[in-house]
Amino acid sequence: MGRASPELVRVADKAAMAQAAADLLLARIAANSGRIAICLTGGSSPKQLYELLATDAWRERIPWPRVHWFIGDERFVPAGDPLHNMTMARHAFLDACAPAANIHPIPTDTTNPDRSARAYEQELKAFYGADQLDPARPLFDLVLLGIGPDGHIASLFPGFPAVEVRDRWVVGVDKANVAPLVPRVSLTLPALASCRAMLFAVAGADKSPILTRVLAGEELPANRARSNGTTTFLIDAAAWPSAPEAPHALIIMGVSSSGKSTVGEALGRRLGWRFEDGDSFHPPANVAKMSAGHPLTDADRWPWLQAIADEIARCRAKGEPIIIACSALKKAYRKVLVGDREDVRLVYLKGGRELIGDRMGHRSGHFMPTGLLDSQFATLEPPSADEHPITVSVDAPVAAIIDAILQQLQIGQARA
Ligand code: 6PG
Repeated sequence: MGRASPELVRVADKAAMAQAAADLLLARIAANSGRIAICLTGGSSPKQLYELLATDAWRERIPWPRVHWFIGDERFVPAGDPLHNMTMARHAFLDACAPAANIHPIPTDTTNPDRSARAYEQELKAFYGADQLDPARPLFDLVLLGIGPDGHIASLFPGFPAVEVRDRWVVGVDKANVAPLVPRVSLTLPALASCRAMLFAVAGADKSPILTRVLAGEELPANRARSNGTTTFLIDAAAWPSAPEAPHALIIMGVSSSGKSTVGEALGRRLGWRFEDGDSFHPPANVAKMSAGHPLTDADRWPWLQAIADEIARCRAKGEPIIIACSALKKAYRKVLVGDREDVRLVYLKGGRELIGDRMGHRSGHFMPTGLLDSQFATLEPPSADEHPITVSVDAPVAAIIDAILQQLQIGQARA
């Protein structure tokens, strides 16, 4: 089962964001009659939420003796430093409301970030009561996260080794990718995922560019962090991505057996758009060649791709939206199909070789013998950010895939 798409909740502004986040926090507390563990986020966004929790209206609703407060990452600076995340939280509400023993800062008075990470990992394991995280017993009731301008969460920066660490709960990060450019200490993705609910709070117009990339499915840490429970994005109107020009054509791309036709037909039914299988535009010589187990050359493909592009042009001229399934494995192929037309969008069905190989093994009547799947993966050039793809995992039910596509395209009504 693939990772479900996060729930997107739009709020009016930062004040509404703080209110909604506080409501969600109270709901998590109400759902657990025992000891509560909340993992706070750093940065500036959560300050309004933290200050709200200290107001009488909220303070009296929180069972402070039962609630423990952790932090998802820390700047490796002394406590009390203006850059210190837990210091901000203490000043905003913890010192006034929470028992001191329930406040669990990441120690930054060690000799280096890795020592701090190991110390905090021991504290988390002691609190949890085990050295291994059990998916059935989350470490946290709620994990709060922000999203940095480069798509980082906590102090897990895109392309940095810490993002891929699976055997640690906490790691040292010697260099930050964005300001403040100080060493960091960060929980890892598995530790952050061990929660009943994960809540991203993203507010302000300056967040719109990175959020657009995240919601388009770009491989960023903000798209890797997901709860084993529920994941919600709270987004204010200023940060909400501007709706791209409504598409006139959707090209469902991916390797053979990634589900292009199934998804394309289902999407067509949901949107009331015509669906065409791109294979129907292959000249007979190409079909015969593939059925005989010979891979197509680029010379075989250009006329096929041009025929599809011509069909898209005809539909655009008539104002008739269309969905076409086409493997479109190479960027050069997609350049023929899309050209400079912003209302022609790519929908990339992403899946691993093993999953898709299993699926192909169970298909019948399809003219691509499974032996050619390796050549498809070898040829595949996943779409890059500048192609503005809608990327969805195929490791999910079709209905969930359709919902994810519509949510990212911000058109149609994703299934409630
Ligand atoms: C940190 C944070 C970091 C933060 C994002 C967003 O230590 O900086 O934990 O992950 O959440 O950078 O920061 P803002 O909320 O300030 O935009």
